[in-house]
Amino acid sequence: MILEENVLIADFVKEIFRATYGVEDDELYRSDELRETIRGAVKSLRTSYQNNVYVTDYGAEENRKAYMIAYYPYYIEPARYVVENFVAPQISPREIIKANFFASGPCPELLGTVAALKKMERCIQVDVQTYDPQPGWFPYQQMTFKLAEKLLKVSAPAVILAHAEGRIETDIFFMQNYLSHMPCQNADKFIEDFSAVAARTNSKTFFVFVDLNYGSTAMVFRRLVDENFLRANGLEKIAAHIPDYGEPFMIRYGDTTQALRDNIFTDDDGLIQKKCTKFYFVALKKI
Ligand SMILES: C[S@@+](CC[C@H](N)C(=O)[O-])C[C@H]1O[C@@H](n2cnc3c(N)ncnc32)[C@H](O)[C@@H]1O
Repeated sequence: MILEENVLIADFVKEIFRATYGVEDDELYRSDELRETIRGAVKSLRTSYQNNVYVTDYGAEENRKAYMIAYYPYYIEPARYVVENFVAPQISPREIIKANFFASGPCPELLGTVAALKKMERCIQVDVQTYDPQPGWFPYQQMTFKLAEKLLKVSAPAVILAHAEGRIETDIFFMQNYLSHMPCQNADKFIEDFSAVAARTNSKTFFVFVDLNYGSTAMVFRRLVDENFLRANGLEKIAAHIPDYGEPFMIRYGDTTQALRDNIFTDDDGLIQKKCTKFYFVALKKI
């Protein structure tokens, strides 16, 4: 099912390019070195995503930068769609909403979440916690916080440790594009860990999983919506579209910037511009 057609993206990519590389994208016409560095990094990301389980080196700075222009802009809308349509309608308006992002990376899902909460007039401030083992993402998260602050007040980010003890005080627990990086043999352990996390949250906490159909996504999503699992963990399914149900949801995008099309996404050598995001999701609520 196509949710959005031709989402315009070029101006946003231009802004992200400037913030990521510190120059305008027009610099790609002048600097062979910049062009070749970015082409190499995009190819490295694309190759890693051709595996059935993504094995991607986010420790490399150039790979993180390439992610910002080749993927990040395309992962805002899925989060916005799920929060706007299924989560926000169930949250009563209040001053502050707490949102916790696991495997956040640069956290495009924060932008989608904030856009949805603003549109639905659910709060005036979002208090954010992120967790990601790769500290190199931190400057890119800062970029996201600045963009989100144009929409709503966003608290200074707090980096959490996933295995810290005690209650998890959050209204929304978000996990996007993590399961596609996790092999199927880790699914049992993941379900066990998630049950333990859910047990530490309060009633009315929402859990949102958004992912592509790679790695353990299909297997884990099937288990998350299983009636026995939900009952045993005091959870209810508020919405889901999992691979077992059929084709993914799709958001189609317009072209990226002219400079990126002329220099990076030149349709050769695997350097094809991304034109859509196909995703599945599960949204649960703690009873
Ligand atoms: C594709 S990125 C997704 C980033 C972001 N959520 C998005 O949708 O753009 C996958 C992230 O998972 C993180 N990651 C890998 N292993 C992890 C783990 N064991 N716990 C939490 N995050 C992990 C990586 O560092 C990376 O930032």
